Amino acid sequence: MDKNKITILAIETSCDETAAAIIMGPKKVKNVNFASPKIKSNIIYSQLDLHQKTKGIVPEVASRAHIEKIIDVISAATKNAKIGLKDIDIIAVTVGPGLIGSLLVGIDTAKSLAYILGKPVISINHIEAHLYAVFARKIKQRKIFPAIAMIVSGGHTSILLMRGHGEYRLLGTTIDDAAGEAFDKVAKILSLSYPGGPNISFEARKAKNLKDSKEMIQFPRPMIDSDNLDFSFSGLKTSVLYKIRDLGDKKTRQLKPKLADQFQKAIIDVLIEKISKAARIYQAKSIILGGGVVANELLRSKIRKKVQNIKPKINLLIPELRLCTDNAAIIGLCAYYQYLKNKRCLKNFKSIHADLSPKF
Ligand code: KG4
Ligand code: ZN
Repeated sequence: MDKNKITILAIETSCDETAAAIIMGPKKVKNVNFASPKIKSNIIYSQLDLHQKTKGIVPEVASRAHIEKIIDVISAATKNAKIGLKDIDIIAVTVGPGLIGSLLVGIDTAKSLAYILGKPVISINHIEAHLYAVFARKIKQRKIFPAIAMIVSGGHTSILLMRGHGEYRLLGTTIDDAAGEAFDKVAKILSLSYPGGPNISFEARKAKNLKDSKEMIQFPRPMIDSDNLDFSFSGLKTSVLYKIRDLGDKKTRQLKPKLADQFQKAIIDVLIEKISKAARIYQAKSIILGGGVVANELLRSKIRKKVQNIKPKINLLIPELRLCTDNAAIIGLCAYYQYLKNKRCLKNFKSIHADLSPKF
């Protein structure tokens, strides 16, 4: 093993993915902005099949499945990275937010490994880790910060000002449902399966081929013009519900692609408007996106177009698709940057605990 490199085993079990990854990067760098950690392996066991049966996650079912898979997933991560457990220098683990039973499986596995191997642990905030998906790629720009970061996932929709690695200020958040949660709930209303995001997107793509219908479908863009950076998506979900009640079963079935398309457009318009507004106010050098909803193709293409028109020029950092939804590579990347910044993040396993509302 290269003595100048650090090897991190990352573990993620906060929700319904059992995941482990190996991240490797230089121990020291001249400028943290130009660090280039590598993802050596990224193994995800998705519990999707289990939860599709119940149209949502049953926490006890999720934790049991994590217990059954965690060792296999870690073994596959070390095998794919062509390393052994003895080569691991640091263990990174998600401590929250998430489902407590699920989190504890990852945390206790990390602690047991740290005890046996005599290695330190870094505890990771799952939401913060979503922002580190973009740092899987070498960033070309000299100036990344100040950046405006937006996390849009199943559990969170927040805008943050990022002045440097690990330096955050919360600027706005959802006052009710998260964007991903709205996708999931509206999918259920439209009888589409879980998770809602990809299925709504898929349905919406058929809207172009729908024979012209006179039915006017348009949904509100909640809080799009409000003078803050907060979001609210629960009213949008209710509007979809009222619309399908008015349409009745037959028309709802016929117009499903149009309903999905219009809902998706409403949510994306709000997300893009708010992030552009924040970037303007704080004269951001970059926009960083993270979270499952960032896998949405329409969001990705619309924000690319929008950012091209912002002056002065701004860097748009969007994660690769495979790193948008939950995985352990983002946990390892986040841990790597914490390690570079401050070695005090390395903890003895005894002081690692679940934390359902970790602070930024
Ligand atoms: O980040 P993530 O994997 O888990 C959380 O930390 O919550 O995000 C999951 C969320 C789900 O709500 C899912 O519906 C949404 O991300 N999602 C999408 C897409 N793919 C996943 N939403 C919109 N479009 C997508 N293509
Ligand atoms: Zn997540």
